[in-house]
Amino acid sequence: MLRIVLLAVLVTNSMVWAYARPPAERLERLARGVNLSHWFWIPHDDSDRGRERFINDEDVKALKAAGFTHVRLPIEPGWLWDARASVLLPERLAALRRGLALLLAEEMAIVVDVHPARTAWLERLDAEAMVHFERFWHALAEALVETDPEWVYLELMNEPHDLPDAATWNVYQKRLHAVVRTAAPRHTIICTGDQWGSIAGLERCEPVADSNVVYSFHFYEPHNFTHQGATWGFDAWRDMGGVPWPATPDDLREVSAGFASLRSRDALQWSATRDAWTPQAVIDRIELAAAWGRRHDAAVYCGEFGVYRLKAPLEARERWLGEVVAALEAREIGWAMWDYAGGFSLVHGGPGARRLDDRTLRALRRMP
Ligand code: BGC
Repeated sequence: MLRIVLLAVLVTNSMVWAYARPPAERLERLARGVNLSHWFWIPHDDSDRGRERFINDEDVKALKAAGFTHVRLPIEPGWLWDARASVLLPERLAALRRGLALLLAEEMAIVVDVHPARTAWLERLDAEAMVHFERFWHALAEALVETDPEWVYLELMNEPHDLPDAATWNVYQKRLHAVVRTAAPRHTIICTGDQWGSIAGLERCEPVADSNVVYSFHFYEPHNFTHQGATWGFDAWRDMGGVPWPATPDDLREVSAGFASLRSRDALQWSATRDAWTPQAVIDRIELAAAWGRRHDAAVYCGEFGVYRLKAPLEARERWLGEVVAALEAREIGWAMWDYAGGFSLVHGGPGARRLDDRTLRALRRMP
């Protein structure tokens, strides 16, 4: 009997370790995606009815027909979790399950992305927050273990930041990974680096001892281009607009002269000399992420990239999107654009009446 058990353990282990990366079909489902933000995360309409109406099967069918293979689904942990009782709120979990079922019915793969923005107990990721976070993930992974691991992926945390150093995040990430792996042995886990999940963060990320993991990074460089007009993050972005891509230092000096605030002018001019505003720079940066993947024999995924629409020149936005997708796809890096119906959006119209934006789609497909 003991021998049979040992043999079974050996066979199971060798099956798990036969891949250095998750199976190819799972990576293929991460090829092209979009972030379904503002549904279970900073909802546009926070009522139950609003949430039920936010995405319907027509939205999902249209994405599928346009060639999207997956969505990344940001979820606010504080919305789902009662931190005092340490339980997932049953009605909210039921709402999330309905959302997952809607997507899966159209064969849309899902990255369940734990994306804290308004979760009080995760405002700062420290030792105390980790206690809650591990309990939260244990419960969530147990709740999701019954979903099909071929179609549902579990992303530990969006854009970790404000940690004392990369080593602290690496320790925390290993703990979160262990919790999720124990509760959900077959699901692909998505890990990331610190410093807002940037390429710089990825370069400091220590891989976990698990072949069924994908490593994510986000790409918004140069930020003064992709976040022009943004009202969050760096306050100088607010007054930036009409910033071109690609651009020479002279182009940027010229456009910045029109900004209302001196701070925004200075910030763009500083970035004109510091950041590389060329297509080659995009390629070089993304190549760093690809090289990290090769070094660690690990699969890499770009879970967010995009351009805030409000004040960005349309053609510049589309050109940047196309160049980023080209650089990613040349390196077989799957991607998810930020975002579906938020400020970086892929659609026009409100819930129940959405249309995919042809120009953005063409840019993502790298067609003229
Ligand atoms: C952040 C959002 C932000 C987006 C682009 C996301 O990861 O959570 O708040 O809109 O990145 O900046």
